[in-house]
Amino acid sequence: MSAAAELGQGVKAVIPAAGMATRFLPATKAVPKELFPVIDKPVLQHIVEEAAAAGIGDVLLVTGRGKTSMVDHFDRRPDLEQRLTERGDKERLEAVIAPSELSEIYTCRQSEPLGLGHAVSYAETHMHGEPFAVLLADEFIDPKHELLSRMLELQQRTGGIVLALLEVPPEAVSRYGVAAIEAAPDSDDVVRVTGLVEKPPADEAPSNLILIGRYVLPPAIFGAIKETEPGRGDEIQLTDAMARLLDKGVPVHGIVFRGTRHDTGEPAGYLRTIVELAWDRDDMGQFRDWLATFMEEQKDA
Ligand code: G1P
Repeated sequence: MSAAAELGQGVKAVIPAAGMATRFLPATKAVPKELFPVIDKPVLQHIVEEAAAAGIGDVLLVTGRGKTSMVDHFDRRPDLEQRLTERGDKERLEAVIAPSELSEIYTCRQSEPLGLGHAVSYAETHMHGEPFAVLLADEFIDPKHELLSRMLELQQRTGGIVLALLEVPPEAVSRYGVAAIEAAPDSDDVVRVTGLVEKPPADEAPSNLILIGRYVLPPAIFGAIKETEPGRGDEIQLTDAMARLLDKGVPVHGIVFRGTRHDTGEPAGYLRTIVELAWDRDDMGQFRDWLATFMEEQKDA
């Protein structure tokens, strides 16, 4: 086992995936966006792989109406496996079995979409009073960056909350949770978070460091969520619950992530993600050549 994977041993994760994905309508009317393919794997598999690379082998998926097919992807498929075995198609057989070996997947249903904080609150009994990770299903990060392992390690050292932060142009902050920070003396990418605000207007944002969808949270978050009134968008916001803990003196740290975040939560980011990943794949040479030619042709057009 890699050193990175050792950190997550025994740690559980929750993936809130009950949203209606309105930014992708009508595609998401009947198909969960978490199952959209990024080349040949669904978005959700990339996320569970990210958790597994950090050693997390227990994932609670918070699902919603019309989204139960997500769970099937992580189950075995004996009929398909038998067909591929008969054909001697070892490569596809391994690819079909792989998702079921990444993690134990547990599910529960969020009956009403009352916000991210509300979705996370479903994890309370599953986490048995231990710190846990939250991975939002809109985005993923290449496990080679070891972001989640570093977050787990930092949480084990500092306690409290650990967040992944990303610097964005100031005009983009109002779509995200935003952190006020002060630099930690001993690190170039670890910061102390001194304030948290959900989707502030750009001119009121405390910084241009946004919360991307990776969190390591202490069990005290569940009490804080219960005390949190609906906020931005009239939803119970996780950011507001974390801000409550911060006010009570719970330490909050952030890691400023400087690699590529694959944002699959809206159509342009989804397309970008597919191109970025295809660019790195040996078997996508023809696609790369086509894309380079296509771009040249567009310049001349
Ligand atoms: C959620 C969080 C927000 C965070 C964002 C990251 O917002 O509430 O704080 O910055 O995810 O993707 P949503 O995208 O669900 O509106």
